[in-house]
Amino acid sequence: MKILIIGGGGREHALAWKLSQSPRVSEVFVVPGNAGTALEENVTNIELSISDLDSLVAFAESHAIDYTVIGPEAPLVDGVVDRFEEKGLRCFGPRADCAQLEGSKAFTKEFLKRHNIPTAAYGTFTDVSQAMTYLDKVGAPIVVKADGLAAGKGVILAKTVDEAKSAVKDMLQSNQFGEAGSRVVIEEFLTGEEASFIVIVDGTDVLPLASSQDHKAAYDSDMGPNTGGMGAYSPAPVVDQICHDRIMSEVIQPTIHGLAADGLRYRGFLYAGIMVAVDGTPKVLEYNCRFGDPETQPILFRLKSDLLDLIEAACHGGLGEQIAVWDSRAALGVVMAAPGYPGDYPRGTDISLGQDTEDTKIFHAGTTMSGDQPITSGGRVLCVTALGSDVSEAKVKAYERLKSVHFEGAEYRTDIGYRAVERESSYSSRREIDSAN
Ligand code: AMP
Ligand code: GLY
Repeated sequence: MKILIIGGGGREHALAWKLSQSPRVSEVFVVPGNAGTALEENVTNIELSISDLDSLVAFAESHAIDYTVIGPEAPLVDGVVDRFEEKGLRCFGPRADCAQLEGSKAFTKEFLKRHNIPTAAYGTFTDVSQAMTYLDKVGAPIVVKADGLAAGKGVILAKTVDEAKSAVKDMLQSNQFGEAGSRVVIEEFLTGEEASFIVIVDGTDVLPLASSQDHKAAYDSDMGPNTGGMGAYSPAPVVDQICHDRIMSEVIQPTIHGLAADGLRYRGFLYAGIMVAVDGTPKVLEYNCRFGDPETQPILFRLKSDLLDLIEAACHGGLGEQIAVWDSRAALGVVMAAPGYPGDYPRGTDISLGQDTEDTKIFHAGTTMSGDQPITSGGRVLCVTALGSDVSEAKVKAYERLKSVHFEGAEYRTDIGYRAVERESSYSSRREIDSAN
């Protein structure tokens, strides 16, 4: 079978790497891909724009592609799946109507409310003075979000009412986020621990994937500006069996039923960003209509099942009979970013990669080939991923592997996985106390 993957980041490298291992896959094409996909066996990069939907459809038709898998949200929100399906082509991802779950925060908040799915209290505004009055009433801390897609940058966690007011003005008056910020959602500030809960949906059945957690802030201790994600690991210890069951019954199942009740047939990866409160209550922070980046890298590094089987089942029915088999080890990925990211950064710097091993793998993101030499081409450059007996060991191995990777000015967090490591060390000290007693 021939597979086409749309996107050029770390998520798409991981998808291409995993799908190319399926015994039933003969060739994987990636639009536009990166140096990592260029270097994988049986994977070919294709230079097309991911927003040129006509060319993507034409490529899939002319190359007799069996399945197209969409990585990023923008083409999904723009209706890429609808376009493929009009031509009778199989394309894995939600159609535009369902992709609104990521494309519009106001749509999502209304959806959550309508179906009684737990989430932060909120208001939606297009009028500045009404937003100001609301902020005066609810106070701070408070969260201001641009309604539309803003590449993870349209969320302001305001500590004071003044900060929230200026964020609202930036969005509604100064047009800082363009069309995406012409409507804002103002919502209650939630506390707890975040987890990424990603499932495969076929319209009716759901297959949960392994839990994960990412780190959105640029610097150690979750300081600094928000980024696309500076590292991730799987599983997330905060999602224990009780929490998993609560997320399934209180969030995922009501979401699937809600979509069906609204006449929406969701097929694809569905990512619920969850805040788990101290008492274990899960609340939805956001939905993404795709796999997470960088969560995909550690999650797929642990997946033992053939991903093509799962995608095929989701496209043709029978997802309910599928189980995903996981490596019992934990995986952790550290993002190496270009100097200055998430602000401006240089491109075109030579990268030396060192050697992957059985339990380490470098997934590329913002890289490209210059002849035989991989060079940087984006903000998030690489995700250095490792397996270990638990998150703490995976962390040690990932940072050890990272020492043999070089490009000038590389920036990375040194504390990826710290919450899981804290939990693991408290379990092991408890075990020591128990065994001493
Ligand atoms: P979003 O794009 O909506 O997921 O927001 C990006 C990040 O902002 C989330 O991953 C959280 O870390 C944080 N965030 C979003 N909404 C809230 C909220 N209501 N309370 C606290 N943190 C939030
Ligand atoms: N890592 C967060 C996301 O993919 O949106």
